[in-house]
Amino acid sequence: MAYNFDEIIDRKNSNALSTDGFREHIFHADSTMKFPYEDDEFVRMWVADMEFATPQVIVDAIRDRLEHRIFGYTKIFDPEYYNTFVRWTEERYQWQFEKDHLVTSNGVIPALYELVRFICKPDEKVLFVTPSYSYFKRAADINSREYICSDLINSDGYYTIDYDDFAVKASDQKTTLCIFCNPHNPTGRIWSIDELKQVGDICIRHGLWVISDEIHCDLLRIGNTHTPFAKIFPEYDKIITCMGPSKTFNIAGLMISNIIIPSSAMRSVWKEFHYGFENPLSIAASQAAYAHGADWLDHLRVYLDENFKFTGEYLAKHLPDAKYRISEATYLAWIDVGSYLPAEVDLPLFFANNAGVLLEGGNMFVRNADGYIRLILACPRSMLEEGLRRICEILNSR
Ligand SMILES: Cc1ncc(COP(=O)(O)O)c(C=O)c1O
Repeated sequence: MAYNFDEIIDRKNSNALSTDGFREHIFHADSTMKFPYEDDEFVRMWVADMEFATPQVIVDAIRDRLEHRIFGYTKIFDPEYYNTFVRWTEERYQWQFEKDHLVTSNGVIPALYELVRFICKPDEKVLFVTPSYSYFKRAADINSREYICSDLINSDGYYTIDYDDFAVKASDQKTTLCIFCNPHNPTGRIWSIDELKQVGDICIRHGLWVISDEIHCDLLRIGNTHTPFAKIFPEYDKIITCMGPSKTFNIAGLMISNIIIPSSAMRSVWKEFHYGFENPLSIAASQAAYAHGADWLDHLRVYLDENFKFTGEYLAKHLPDAKYRISEATYLAWIDVGSYLPAEVDLPLFFANNAGVLLEGGNMFVRNADGYIRLILACPRSMLEEGLRRICEILNSR
């Protein structure tokens, strides 16, 4: 193997959210919150970043940029940034967009926070499907916009869209925006062209804006393909696409994402209100990732596929009543352990206290998530095995 995904890298003393931020982020607590485990005894499977080193081509590009030694105010002026990224979307998704449509942001979440405010007037509503990445709700909450949820249909762990329900909620006069996660966090679904068409047709019928959050689009199980939402509706300029190198190449801390806004009116609003500077090291990293990171990504995907398979086999053997399917995309495993625990159990707290595993689950995913835990599988197999061992052991001991 050309890359060592089995390497354990100690993240202590690196200001990592994963090691130092879990009390605040999972439990809304401060450093006084105590557990039966020391902090470094936890197996961390919660925040969606990877335990793998970012590819060397990215480290080298950052180092090259460092050697320049001046880090003054920076924006993306060089057309090579666009050229590199659009080559990536063309090769991977047979999709391209105009250069003018691309803006950047210090992450997809900051973009969501702004776009909700730009799109929805104070009395208008945001629609998304549930279970959901919690920041979709948060984007509505912090802007004091109402949100409406349409529950996905769960058939034995396979999630599909309830089009009738979605259409009713989209037809609400006050619904003006749908935030759609494609591929979907937490279920790992890759929406088919037909599914995207149906959702898109409903949104278009009611004149909704769509923010298609495609941050997980590069992390597909081998053999699967991703379809950008906007590719299906090239004439409809109210679909905004969010992509980025942060999940794909484990550079979330570099805070750079690509936002494609086809509407010139919305781009004008964005340009007026968005504080649009970028970190020069992040620009170098992002460009290098898309120019030279494909080989690393191909190998990563092989390793992730094996981790998903390993998880399935482990659960089948040790936790036969858990419901688990290999996610079509993402490095997130979405597992129903509801038959092992009473419904009222706070899942993250239970596993932190009783198994020494940090994970997310249940109502952290807004709703329609009872009994489910989400595990990050982007870690060395030895860590994964230890996390699964602890989870299975505590559930079997009850
Ligand atoms: C669906 C989705 N959108 C956005 C993000 C975060 O994006 P960023 O780090 O670019 O703000 C995540 C991270 O887990 C995610 O799962």
